Parts: sequence; C-alpha cells; structure tokens
Amino acid sequence: MLSEVLLVSAPGKVILHGEHAVVHGKVALAVALNLRTFLRLQPHSNGKVDLSLPNIGIKWAWDVARLQLLDTSFLEQGDATTPTPELVEKLKEVAGLPDDCAVTESLAVLAFLYLYLSICRKQRALPSLDIVVWSELPHGAGLGSSAAYSVCLAAALLTVCEEIPNPLKDGDRVNRWTKEDLELINKWAFQGERVIHGNPSGVDNAVSTWGGALRYQQGKISSLKRPPALQILLTNTKVPRNTRTLVAGVRNRLLKFPEIVAPLLTSIDAISLECERVLGEMGEAPAPEQYLVLEELIDMNQHHLNALGVGHASLDQLCQVTRAHGLHSKLTGAGGGGCGITLLKPGLEQPEVEATKQALTSCGFDCWETSIGAPGVSIHSATSLDSRVQQALDGL
Ligand code: PMV
Repeated sequence: MLSEVLLVSAPGKVILHGEHAVVHGKVALAVALNLRTFLRLQPHSNGKVDLSLPNIGIKWAWDVARLQLLDTSFLEQGDATTPTPELVEKLKEVAGLPDDCAVTESLAVLAFLYLYLSICRKQRALPSLDIVVWSELPHGAGLGSSAAYSVCLAAALLTVCEEIPNPLKDGDRVNRWTKEDLELINKWAFQGERVIHGNPSGVDNAVSTWGGALRYQQGKISSLKRPPALQILLTNTKVPRNTRTLVAGVRNRLLKFPEIVAPLLTSIDAISLECERVLGEMGEAPAPEQYLVLEELIDMNQHHLNALGVGHASLDQLCQVTRAHGLHSKLTGAGGGGCGITLLKPGLEQPEVEATKQALTSCGFDCWETSIGAPGVSIHSATSLDSRVQQALDGL
C-alpha cells in the first residue's frame, strides 16, 4: 500500500447536443466541464477511516478494526459486484446510518463505503485513511457531480491500494493514468454511480474519467478524437426541475404528435452529428468560421428543445440576455430550468464577458466562466499545486 498523500480531481459534464433525443435512440454529445471535484487522500495510522465532504457539511469516521470484523462477504473478493438494492441495504447496516439521514449524505456515504470495502479488500488489512472530497460543481444541477465524486474515489482508492500505479513522476505537477488504468477507474466509478442512482446510463462517469467529448448512442460510448477546449459560460438558473417528468413530457408529445415530434428528434440527431464533425475539424485545423457554425447549431437546438416542451421562462431569459451581448446559448440537460451554456468565441474582450456575467447574475442566476472538453480524472502533485487547488486546500 502507498504511504503518500494523493490528490486527484475529476470533471463534471454538460450535454452539448442531444439531450432528450438520446432517450429515443439518437446521438448525444457529452463534454467534460472544467468545474472539478477534488479529493485528498492521506494514509494514517489512527485505526480510523475518515470521510469529510465540506460542501455538504458532513464528516464520518469508522473504526477500521470494527469494519474488518463485520461480515462483508456480500462484496465478492476484489470484483465489481453489482450494487443491488439488497447489497445497498446491507451496506447501510455496515455504515451505521441513522434512519433520518439526509438522502444526499446517505448516498455519498454508501458509495464511499462500497468502493472502499470492495477495492481495499485485497489488502492484508483494511487501510486507515483520511479522505476529503470537495467540489466546484453545484450539486443536483445535472452536471455529473456524483459521477465526478465516484471517479475521484475509484482513482484514489485503486492508486493507494496499488491496483493501478501512481502516474506522477518527479517534477510533474499533474498527470493522467494509462488507457487500461482509466478503464478500471471507470468500471469502479460506474458501480459507485449505481449505488447513488440505481440504473445510470454510465455516460457521466465515462466523461468524468476520459475527459474531452464523448458521443453517446443507445448505450454505446466513444471518445471524439482531439476535441478542442471551448470557453463557455455555464449558467445555473437555479429553477428546480425533474428529469423524469420532463422526459415523460417529451414522450407524451411524441405519442400525441408523432409526425411533428419525430422529425424534431431526427433534426436534433443531425445537429449532434454536424457538431461532432465541426469539433473534429476544429481539432485538426481551427478557423473562426467554425464558431459561427457552432452558434447556429446552438440556436437551432434551443428552438427544437422549446418545441419539445422542455424550455422555461428562465432559460428564455438566459438566451435573451446573452443574445443582447452577441452570444448564443442553449439549455443543457433536462431543461425546464436547470442549467444553460453560452459559447464564448475566441477574441471576445474580457469586459464584454464580465458584462454578460454581471447581467446573468443580476437575473438571480449563478454563472461560471469555464471550459468544456476539459481533461478527465487527473492526479496532482501535493508539493507543487496550482493556485486553484491550493486555495481550496487552504479553505479546508
Ligand atoms: O439529468 P440531466 O440534466 O443530466 O440530463 C438528462 C438528459 C436527458 O437526455 C434529458 C435524459 C437522459 O437520461 O438522457
């Protein structure tokens, strides 16, 4: 077992094109969002395993010796056992969760214990660890925060148990794992996601692991070659929405008006394919006209999504405000409120960006200037940290 401090991070995700259409077998493009979740793991020798999640104000500690004595044979030796509802019930007993524990807290704790017990079982004794996880991602906004959490946990636990090597070499500030190691991280992270979500598609953990941009269709996930990192504004309207209800609404509209709605879904599919083509071209030979195409695709898809019935007054306002500054926006994810993305073309003056952010903030929205097509799960040197990580660590 490694004895050094590990610091890992993993990105959130946004859907660039194809939300809702993907439910009906069309292509979606999901991209890594450079708002990240960070995890610090410190091996220690006090016989405890500590988990702190400062964003949601929780701290848990378990006695390693007690965990060791409990019957955890329901987690097959070192294998990714499917976290069935029965298994999750057993985990609840192991965790000692009180009946009135908040849902978010209990799911975060269960995913952690599942991964800790399953991955570390191969060690002679369960390791004593201190783990802190914090995030730049708002929680429950459809930005893949739970997947980034599971990916960070899987990467750190597999590394500390030497199931995968620590890819950092002397002098590196940040590094990534090999393809095979990332596959293993992704496999475990998917199990963590299943503890949290029951039956997720797997696209969120895949984007968080691999980074960049992924094409997703009928369960098949593939990475786009060399996607460009695009600057965006990510805006959270903070209007709560229910993905299940919105998905059902689209299905009903499709059943009611098949001749009208099916072509909309086909058109969204074509938008995703055209976007994929342009992103590929941008990776090879970037040119300003490509941004104009991306903007047109954003506008057309936003209109289609409105026609599917998943728009919202807050999202219309977001589009109008950014349009007044010459920028193009669309909703991302389920719609009905939630988040939207605005493309920032290169060469845009910073005061213009600031003015747009200001205008969005004064609507009551949260707004971040960030990028998409960001790197996937990464390991950072604990001795030469970039200012973003250092600031967060200072605040812990
Ligand atoms: O729940 P969100 O906001 O990450 O996005 C849901 C995306 C949908 O296409 C609407 C639903 C789905 O399962 O793909």
